[in-house]
Amino acid sequence: MISIEPLDGPFGCAAHGVDLEAGVTDDQFRTLSQALYRHRVLVVKDQACDKDAYLRFGRQWGVPIQHVVDTARMPGYPDLLEVGNVAKRRQDRLTRNSAAFWHTDQSYEADVATATMLYARKVPDQGGETRILDMKAAYDNLEADLRQRIDGLTAMHYYGATSGRDGELPTPKLTDAQAAHVPPVPHPLVRPHAVTGERVLYAIGGTAFDIEGMPPEDADQLIRTLKAHCVQDRYIYAHKYEVGDIAIWDTQMTMHSATPIGAPNGPGTERLLWRISVRGIPGIYARAAAAA
Ligand SMILES: [Fe+2]
Repeated sequence: MISIEPLDGPFGCAAHGVDLEAGVTDDQFRTLSQALYRHRVLVVKDQACDKDAYLRFGRQWGVPIQHVVDTARMPGYPDLLEVGNVAKRRQDRLTRNSAAFWHTDQSYEADVATATMLYARKVPDQGGETRILDMKAAYDNLEADLRQRIDGLTAMHYYGATSGRDGELPTPKLTDAQAAHVPPVPHPLVRPHAVTGERVLYAIGGTAFDIEGMPPEDADQLIRTLKAHCVQDRYIYAHKYEVGDIAIWDTQMTMHSATPIGAPNGPGTERLLWRISVRGIPGIYARAAAAA
C-alpha cells in the first residue's frame, strides 16, 4: 500500500511503500504520477534496487534520454548517468559541479525532458542537496501585465547559453562533436504540460538566450527579469538525500540546481546518484490517449 505525505518545504511529497525490485503496477504508477503532477517533486523512499529495476521504473515515465555529454553515460547503461563527486571524471571542480546552476534538463533539445529522477546510492553527511524550484507557483505570482506580455512569446535555447551568469558556476563546454547534436532550439516561454495541460513559464535559467522578434538587449533584460522573479526562497525546496531515496521532479513545472560540492576526502563525503531523464509521457497515459 503506497502512502503519500508532504515534504518539509513549500511543495513536494514523499512516497512510502514502493518496491522497485518487485515492480510498480499500473495502479501504483497512477498514484505516483498523480502525486508528482500535483506536488512537482516526489521522493520515493527506501529503495534498494539494481540498475535494471531502476531503468524498468524509469521507462514507465517515458523514454530515457542518452545525454549529449556522452562521457557522462554509465558504461553498459547509456540511459543512466552517474552524478556526484565519486567518478574519475568528476574530480575536476567544474565537471563535478556541472549542474550547480538553475536549469531544466534537456531544455536545449527540441524534444525536452518531461521527468528527471536521481537515485541516491551514497550521500555526504554535509551538503549535496538538490534545490528544486516550483515554476508554476512563480508563474502564477507574476504581475498580470508581465504574464500578458510573455504569453505567446518564443525563447531560443542553447546548451550553456548563459553559463556563469548571476554568480553561478560555469558549465563545462561541449566538444564540437557534442555541440553538433544540439543546435539552438525554440520553445514557448509559457508552455503547456504534456499530461495536465497546465501552462507554466518554462526553462528560464541556463539555456534561454534570446526571444524571437525582440531586440537582443530587450530579450536579455526580459529573461533576466523573469529568472530573478523565479529564484526566490519561497518557491524553492532543497532536498537532503537519504540513501535509497529516488527524487523525481516534473521538469515541465520546475527548474533545479545542484549545490556545489567538494571532492570526497574521507568517510561521509562521497555523493553518488544515478540519474535517469525521460521524454514523452508515461505509457499509461499514452495508451489511454490512443484508446480514446
Ligand atoms: Fe539537471
